[in-house]
Amino acid sequence: MASLLLLLFLSLLSSSSSSSEDLQKTFIVQVQYDAKPSIFPTHRHWYDSSLSSLPTTTTATAAATVIHTYDTVFHGFSAKLTASQLKHLKTLPHILAVIPEQVRRLHTTRSPQFLGLKTTDSAGTLLKESDFGSDLVIGVIDTGIWPERESFNDRSLGPVPAKWKGQCVTSGDFTAAACNRKIIGARYFCQGYESTNGKMNETTEFRSPRDSDGHGTHTSSIVAGRYVFPASTLGYAHGVASGMAPKARISIYKVCWNAGCYDSDILAAFDSAVSDGVDVISLSVGGVVVPYYLDAIAIGAFGASDHGVFVSASAGNGGPGGLTVTNIAPWVTTVGAGTIDRDFPDDVHLGNGKIVPGVSVYSGPGLGGPTRLYSLVYAGSEGGDGYSASLCLEGSLDPKTVRGKIVLCDRGINSRAAKGEVVKKAGGVGMILANGVFDGEGLVADCHILPATAVGASVGDEIRKYIITAEKSKSPATATIVFKGTRVNVRPAPVVASFSARGPNPESPEILKPDVIAPGLNILAAWPDRVGPSGIPSDKRRTEFNILSGTSMACPHVSGLGALLKAAHPEWSPAAIRSALMTTAYTVDNRNETMLDESTGNTSTVLDFGAGHVHPQKAMDPGLIYDLSSYDYVNFLCNSNYTVQNIQTVTRRKADCSGARRAGHTGNLNYPSLSVVFQQYGKHKMSTHFIRTVTNVGDPNSVYKVSIRPPSGTSVTVQPEKLVFRRVGQKLNFLVRVQAKAVKQLSPGSSNVKSGSVVWSDGGKHIVTSPLVVTMQQPL
Ligand SMILES: *[C@@H]1O[C@H](CO)[C@@H](O)[C@H](O)[C@H]1NC(C)=O
Ligand SMILES: *[C@@H]1O[C@H](CO)[C@@H](O)[C@H](O)[C@H]1NC(C)=O
Ligand SMILES: *[C@@H]1O[C@H](CO)[C@@H](O)[C@H](O)[C@H]1NC(C)=O
Ligand SMILES: *[C@@H]1O[C@H](CO)[C@@H](O)[C@H](O)[C@H]1NC(C)=O
Repeated sequence: MASLLLLLFLSLLSSSSSSSEDLQKTFIVQVQYDAKPSIFPTHRHWYDSSLSSLPTTTTATAAATVIHTYDTVFHGFSAKLTASQLKHLKTLPHILAVIPEQVRRLHTTRSPQFLGLKTTDSAGTLLKESDFGSDLVIGVIDTGIWPERESFNDRSLGPVPAKWKGQCVTSGDFTAAACNRKIIGARYFCQGYESTNGKMNETTEFRSPRDSDGHGTHTSSIVAGRYVFPASTLGYAHGVASGMAPKARISIYKVCWNAGCYDSDILAAFDSAVSDGVDVISLSVGGVVVPYYLDAIAIGAFGASDHGVFVSASAGNGGPGGLTVTNIAPWVTTVGAGTIDRDFPDDVHLGNGKIVPGVSVYSGPGLGGPTRLYSLVYAGSEGGDGYSASLCLEGSLDPKTVRGKIVLCDRGINSRAAKGEVVKKAGGVGMILANGVFDGEGLVADCHILPATAVGASVGDEIRKYIITAEKSKSPATATIVFKGTRVNVRPAPVVASFSARGPNPESPEILKPDVIAPGLNILAAWPDRVGPSGIPSDKRRTEFNILSGTSMACPHVSGLGALLKAAHPEWSPAAIRSALMTTAYTVDNRNETMLDESTGNTSTVLDFGAGHVHPQKAMDPGLIYDLSSYDYVNFLCNSNYTVQNIQTVTRRKADCSGARRAGHTGNLNYPSLSVVFQQYGKHKMSTHFIRTVTNVGDPNSVYKVSIRPPSGTSVTVQPEKLVFRRVGQKLNFLVRVQAKAVKQLSPGSSNVKSGSVVWSDGGKHIVTSPLVVTMQQPL
């Protein structure tokens, strides 16, 4: 709601600058698809006619035209409309809903081994059982692809799957040769982008599926890049690079351009991908959270899921704060980011003898070893109580004070690598980049263009203090950075990445999000020739691979695993695939202790990692699954008190909520995790129940017994305590009751989150774990 108000507020502000009558904005319009009068040969003719009936203003540009039509995951079109055109359009009887467009942003190898994906040919391994995903098609909605990369070579791949209906859209810089038996489809969607921003500048971006950014090439190769050896970035992370599903096919849907990713284009990409016949959609893009019926990604993803397509999306990089998770619809698999057991350490030697840790993938001439110290400066200005931040923005550094020195910069505003460029231009020899308090201690390695390192917030404070004290004592500070290359078998790992967006779910608190975490920190994957590894325009280095971090990198890991699971179990629904990934996920690190949170070094919680870190091999054989169909999601939307009309905007069908509202509450969605929010009034006990149904996908005759770990301050019972299955595919129900005592010391407006679990096991062969989260909220 807050974000909606903000949008309204912004639109009021912007309309005051120009006449609100002439201002056109993009809307996605839902129509009653089957009401098309027969005089119109196609839906497009009908939509054009609807728009031409709208009033035009004196401005010539104000005639409304169709941007995209949607026929598969949504029924309708997008168009730019003035306020009065919108008003008239809404009065037409076949217009069901209008959704204001949002602009989305990108959520910017050792990971297969770290995930335990054994590449041996022995039977029973996920890669073997799925034939490395060979018959599956993964749609990647992103910035496009650099098709010439070795990761996308189609050597030894079989013919394109017969069911495929997609297309390779070519142009001068993306010829038919760009597609092959690996990249079997490629399209781009820029009409929405251009209708807001004007024609793209074709010297800085490609009007084709070709990637001028790097993000889409990177995510595509994480999903389904083939084995490439040797792979590294500037010598770092040397080894075999491979995607999760090395033989799966990729279809590219380019929707992200220099000024962002527009909803009207994203929905068109979902529409095409589903009608092309993809099995999985990978989306490392997101924006602000709005109700599902106003969220083009949630709507597109529902349509995809309704057609049996598994949709995995990044949780966002808004962590470590709470309530930051995005792409939270219950029919989306929402992926947060963890570290892997590899890092790129360096040591910062300070003139006072202290050695503090940093990380970097800088490659190039070093600074001359630990004994060669340089003057160290902080570029913040001195104020009443110390120094103000030193952001190292373009033009902010005086060459007189930084030439020949190492500069301490603070994170924020411009990119991490761009700060290095500013230091270098001003004559600095090196940079130490300190996290702010909001970034915490999480470190992201970058391919800097000068010797540079990242340090955590507390180390940053320590270095700042050292500089200030040294200056006062008239013996100016000195330092150097010693790079130590690539380190593997790092402990602990995985750790929840600082930036990984966290729960609780801002729209549906009874659905725990993110669902799982996967590798997303310092991931090696393919990179285009167009961009240097630091991403800044002046960087002329070219690399086949690059190391990036983000939930953007975690999401395609899960998309690729989704494809492998679907190949191994063609009959599984998207919800079954997610259930298998969630109930087999783990929450301990490689020291067998609860995973830590990189931002604090403290233990992380279910709000950070959801069900836990994915474990592909176990997900192949989960024993039981919590399945869901579109019908269940409709009941969930009914119980979320969405109107019948708002539900139809998401599901394309008229909903009947009478049964659902009688049957229960949102917590009864057959989700693999259990979450309840109690509003605490007074001291009495609060209670709720969850109904769940599990489907046996393990052995025909099996007996599962429950074990319960109640969240502290609650009592939990499960009935029955034993489930006796006689065949595969059999479904059995159980009931979970949760009772909680009021929490005494809770102040108004605050909340208290406790977690536990409900675990089913058939004597240890399968262990089916559901997190159980109880949130106490003290109303204001
Ligand atoms: C397109 O971008 C190039 C490179 O930044 C710039 O030189 C040129 O002026 C731009 N063209 C237009 C029409 O904006
Ligand atoms: C991990 O710890 C748990 C209990 O804390 C213990 O039961 C289990 O055996 C340990 N696993 C390993 C592999 O050490
Ligand atoms: C981390 O743990 C320490 C020690 O238990 C505690 O003092 C601190 O508040 C915790 N930090 C956060 C952010 O939870
Ligand atoms: C929906 O409305 C009912 C009746 O007013 C209320 O009890 C319930 O808590 C609401 N559910 C949600 C998810 O808001």
